[in-house]
Amino acid sequence: MKPALFTSYSIKNITLKNRIVMSPMCMYSCFNQDGEITDWHLYHYITRAMGQAGLIFTEAAAVTPQGRISHEDLGIWDDSQLEGLKKLTRTVKEYGSHIGIQLAHAGRKATVDGPIIAPSPIPFNDDIKTPDEMSESDIHETIKAFKNAAKRAIEAGFDVLEIHAAHGYLINEFLSPLTNHRTDSYGGSLKNRYRFLETIIKEVRKIWNGPLFVRISANEYEEYGNKIEDFIQLASWMKQDGADLVDCSSGGITPKRPHAFPGFQVPNAETIRKKAGLSTGAVGLITSGIQAEEILQNERADLVFIGRDLLRNPYWPLKAAKELNYSLEGPKQYDRGWK
Ligand code: FNR
Repeated sequence: MKPALFTSYSIKNITLKNRIVMSPMCMYSCFNQDGEITDWHLYHYITRAMGQAGLIFTEAAAVTPQGRISHEDLGIWDDSQLEGLKKLTRTVKEYGSHIGIQLAHAGRKATVDGPIIAPSPIPFNDDIKTPDEMSESDIHETIKAFKNAAKRAIEAGFDVLEIHAAHGYLINEFLSPLTNHRTDSYGGSLKNRYRFLETIIKEVRKIWNGPLFVRISANEYEEYGNKIEDFIQLASWMKQDGADLVDCSSGGITPKRPHAFPGFQVPNAETIRKKAGLSTGAVGLITSGIQAEEILQNERADLVFIGRDLLRNPYWPLKAAKELNYSLEGPKQYDRGWK
């Protein structure tokens, strides 16, 4: 029987050829600091398409220059960035993978020049400047920036959009009681703290019928942070509002680092999938085909996101297939070598 890892997966208007997703990973390689795709990005992502990943996510793409983690981040705030993005989607698709983009704003974790913004003026640590508290108009402008970025992503030919609501970046800062001390309609209760993400999801949904993923940090590892029950509630709202899948990462809201071990974040993907009835992606120290197969066969997640092991080995899907005694076709140019 075909391993679950290599079964196709249909979501909205697309069918992925397998369940292997390249997790978004910043390359800090826009060397001209203009947010544009460079040759590095083309080679880097196309190699993973040749390696047979079903869905490839770009790294976090900033929706405003101020929302970059660093000056070398990928950007999607200006039409000048479209040409490179179009080339990227066209070539990755030519090699048989689907391609998604992660739309992001770094919030208080931005290290760019000039002021930075967040829901409340609380710095991440002593090394990063204190953010300005966002005004209502900053909030509306930023929501618009996410929507405009989504418009560009559609024009550039991306198959999947992912909203980055994890790792302590701007949207996560709204969600968490640790970083959101607002007293207006964007702060206070969980529903209020969700309002920023809710509006972004709804605005993007007005212009996009395709798959919409949201990446969350489903464990904040802090006594007074959001807990799994909060994320189950958030995921139920996201589902109602039009998200198709939550990609369950964790941490990053404070400098505290989680104790990481193989599959350490999978239980969150499993719980949210069961309790919120929303499709999930599992990520985090998933390095073998057998481990990925266990997650899928036990219905703990719908997709498996691979990060660092796909950096180490662009042919990770072929390695995983071998472990599962499955004969996976590689690029036809390599057939002679492998058959
Ligand atoms: C990341 N990660 C990450 N996550 C995200 O949502 N957006 C991003 O842009 C990045 N950038 C990034 C860069 C680099 C170099 C690494 C190693 C990681 C996190 C990544 O997607 C993934 O969730 C983690 O790496 C855990 O998965 P692995 O690496 O254990 O498979």
